Amino acid sequence: MTTNDTNTKKSIRQKHILDLDELNRSDIELIFENTDSMMEVLNRGIRKVPALRGKTIITLFYESSTRTRVSFEQAGKILSADVINVSSDGSSSKKGESLYNTALTLQAMKADAIVIRHQHSGAACFLAQQMDSTSIINAGDGMHAHPTQSLLDLYTIKKNLGTISSKKVVIVGDLLYSRVARSNLWGLTTMGANIVLCGPNTLLPQDFLDSRIHETNHPFREIQIEENIDTALKDADVVMALRLQSERQKAGHLPSLREYSRRFGITSERLKIAKPDAIVMHPGPMNEGVEIESDAAHGPQSVIESQVTTGVAIRMAILYDLITGNHSEKEL
Ligand code: CP
Repeated sequence: MTTNDTNTKKSIRQKHILDLDELNRSDIELIFENTDSMMEVLNRGIRKVPALRGKTIITLFYESSTRTRVSFEQAGKILSADVINVSSDGSSSKKGESLYNTALTLQAMKADAIVIRHQHSGAACFLAQQMDSTSIINAGDGMHAHPTQSLLDLYTIKKNLGTISSKKVVIVGDLLYSRVARSNLWGLTTMGANIVLCGPNTLLPQDFLDSRIHETNHPFREIQIEENIDTALKDADVVMALRLQSERQKAGHLPSLREYSRRFGITSERLKIAKPDAIVMHPGPMNEGVEIESDAAHGPQSVIESQVTTGVAIRMAILYDLITGNHSEKEL
């Protein structure tokens, strides 16, 4: 990526990134193309380009995070933006300031982009509706969506398997509370994957999936649900384990963690049921010994660490695109 080719890059239509239901296949492929350039920058000895010099990015995190917050900060800094991190603990939200007034304040300080993580579903969409000049990037809102995680997951699949289309992707675990899974259902469906969801009945998003029963053209009508993990894993190309979201779960979803791990935990032994070249993914943070065993998490089929690296490049591509793109068709 040179200063020259940053000038000629195409950009997606959106001013904000809120969830993957707003991105079509061309948008996603364009983000992948730009991510390839960002990956080249990331792999250099000196990781710095002037693409966003003079621009300001604010990360506003009301929930804890390691991967997402640090990768957005790193992405912004590699592109030479000024990155300011705000957490709920040290901000005036502790004095009762509303999310809306906090965002207006940051916009008044000329933030070009606000990256927000919030415990309430819909927080990022709400802010996007209020902003005139600042792009909003959803870094995870409640159990609703985590679009940049999904984009990095899609990119990882494409880079490892050559394509996403027609690949069997098995998503295992806490599907009810996982915003990663929800965004991935949109992204994987758009890119033509065959999706199988596997988990205990109590952790399946029945409310989310019911609509496919009533709408013949609903994009999720082809998604399969399989309660037996050994059946689900047969011929899988991708095995994606999800974290048990203990902070969001109410009591009574699971009889015991040991039972859950025995029935749904991803182990190297279980991976033998999947295709020999299947990849193992996890958005992190992992509960090793619960949804995934160490032998699978750190084994030869695992791409979990490369997901983290890809996360930086994807976020570079998104920041660059939203901040420099010509979003004449501003859509929400
Ligand atoms: N995958 C993910 O969102 O991780 P963090 O909570 O560490 O950001």
